[in-house]
Amino acid sequence: MIMSPLILAIDTSCDDTSAAVTHGTTILSNVVASQTQLHKQYGGVFPTVAKQAHKENIGPVIALALKRAKKTFADVSAIAVTQGPGLAPALEVGIEKAKALALEHDLPLIPVNHIEGHALSVLAQPKNRAEKNGLRFPILSIVVSGGHTEFILIRALGEYQRLGFTVDDAAGEALDKFGRMIDLGYPAGPIIEEFAKKGDHKKYTFPLPMTTSGDFNLSFSGMKTAARKLTEELATKKVLSQQDTYDLCASFQYAVFRSITYKLNKILQSQQIFGIWLGGGVASNMNLRAAIRQTIRPYHLSLKVPYAKKLCSDNAAMIGVAAKFQFQRENKVIGDEIKNIQRLPRWEIDRSLFSFHKF
Ligand code: KG4
Ligand code: ZN
Repeated sequence: MIMSPLILAIDTSCDDTSAAVTHGTTILSNVVASQTQLHKQYGGVFPTVAKQAHKENIGPVIALALKRAKKTFADVSAIAVTQGPGLAPALEVGIEKAKALALEHDLPLIPVNHIEGHALSVLAQPKNRAEKNGLRFPILSIVVSGGHTEFILIRALGEYQRLGFTVDDAAGEALDKFGRMIDLGYPAGPIIEEFAKKGDHKKYTFPLPMTTSGDFNLSFSGMKTAARKLTEELATKKVLSQQDTYDLCASFQYAVFRSITYKLNKILQSQQIFGIWLGGGVASNMNLRAAIRQTIRPYHLSLKVPYAKKLCSDNAAMIGVAAKFQFQRENKVIGDEIKNIQRLPRWEIDRSLFSFHKF
């Protein structure tokens, strides 16, 4: 029986500075310093501003994560850090901090793929709940966030194949850009979910993209262009009423999620899958969860989502969970090799996790 490692995990891939302490798949603490307020004025994430905020937040966030977990560096088995993908200047802050801490405390460093973190976030457990065993593979993970929208075939933990991905915007990004068109503020995803509840999703129709592409890829840019045309046309005719806004939100959200479930269904028709996992910021949307559940029901599959919404959006606990399995596979960097770890802003999940490092 391999002992569960106690991991201090760090994620600075985008606009949230996060540190967590995990014991196996159990989350002891998960601190997230959000920069949303800071980036609101730009309507999106501004990389150099993000880097500066990460630099200011990283020390206090790590200290708080240890304090909340009631642990010190003496208890820690390894440091884990997001190596990519993400914004290069933002990634750098977390990686440099993790390297310095690993060297200072003579601990192994585990570089983690951020998408693997989102994919395995469903395995995170709250305190006082026993770890579950017995996963049946292959499992399909759907990661839907502001930066990524991917279908990942999990053959085993650590063995991933990207079956499909967005060729342009991510689903969350499309929702945020649509929200900007109708002045919903940033990030628009959660507001769209609320407004959509009061709207009619059949009021406006948007094109279903990539139906003849013969692959499992997604695209949201055509939908976005159609939305821009529609909102501009409506604006020339009248001032949008609150009900118009609700209907637009319901219709656009429906179109975004329908394109995901359309390709999900194609995947399930093409191969046998034993479980469906959902992660990423958009995974907290109840409408998306319901649409996926409806799609997978005929295949007698059930949907697994993270136990808390905080685990859907960017957070370091999911990085700690992914690192636990790497630790048990001996995928860790030690000693002077730690200095060679560099950020990988475009790291794709199915490129061999350790092919970048020489051992
Ligand atoms: O995973 P995340 O925190 O960051 C990235 O890795 O991108 O995802 C952020 C995205 C944003 O686009 C935000 O609008 C979207 O997730 N989001 C939602 C909801 N909550 C967050 N989209 C739809 N419905 C929600 N409830
Ligand atoms: Zn993310």
